[in-house]
Amino acid sequence: MRLRNIPGSRDVIAASEFVVHEDVMREMCGRWNTVFGNDRPIYIEVGMGKGRFITELAGRRPENNYVGIEKYSSVLLRALEKREMLPELTNLYFLRMEAEDLTEVFGEQEVSGIYLNFSDPWPKDRHAKRRLPSREFLARYDRILKPEGRVEFKTDNRALFDFALDEAEAAGWRLEVCTFDLHQEEELMADNIMTEYEERFSAMGNPICKLVIAR
Ligand SMILES: C[S@@+](CC[C@H](N)C(=O)[O-])C[C@H]1O[C@@H](n2cnc3c(N)ncnc32)[C@H](O)[C@@H]1O
Repeated sequence: MRLRNIPGSRDVIAASEFVVHEDVMREMCGRWNTVFGNDRPIYIEVGMGKGRFITELAGRRPENNYVGIEKYSSVLLRALEKREMLPELTNLYFLRMEAEDLTEVFGEQEVSGIYLNFSDPWPKDRHAKRRLPSREFLARYDRILKPEGRVEFKTDNRALFDFALDEAEAAGWRLEVCTFDLHQEEELMADNIMTEYEERFSAMGNPICKLVIAR
């Protein structure tokens, strides 16, 4: 993602009621039900970018809670702008954090599902462990996910998708859904929500791959 540093984005985020701030997010570990004020299932998107996917999902599924995670303030700011147009949503918060720290912010088996959409590919071999579907990240997801929880991953990057398939198998995850051309799959498309990247890359003619894995 090309990043522009937007002056003041940190201040806007610091003042937002829709962000759980860095000074308290670790205190919420194992207690996210107190943030939402209910015991509904919690789903997270890691690397949400500008937030269209999780914002729309939260609107469609009021029976669940959602947390969108993004490491860059300038990108999170764009998600916040969408969020502020929907003050009636009570089931969506954002975190500005590095996903490596997930297990410090969510307790064991606290999360019901994890979405990864168009994750950064980190093409150099020496950076493989930074890829969000890597075995290192799968181990983090394993800790915070409920036993029946799933990880869903979409990308147009075939090399990253093949890597994700290999990593999931090596880490002992079970493949429940796998397609190399999601937009041709009527059943899977019925509840598909296009992310910003998905719209851009599918408009360029790139097939979108999707997998769903469970343990
Ligand atoms: C290529 S963009 C995709 C954004 C969005 N999911 C979409 O599909 O439109 C990947 C996003 O993930 C964020 N990201 C990548 N690695 C991350 C990490 N380790 N922790 C938190 N966010 C991360 C990036 O800053 C970027 O905004």
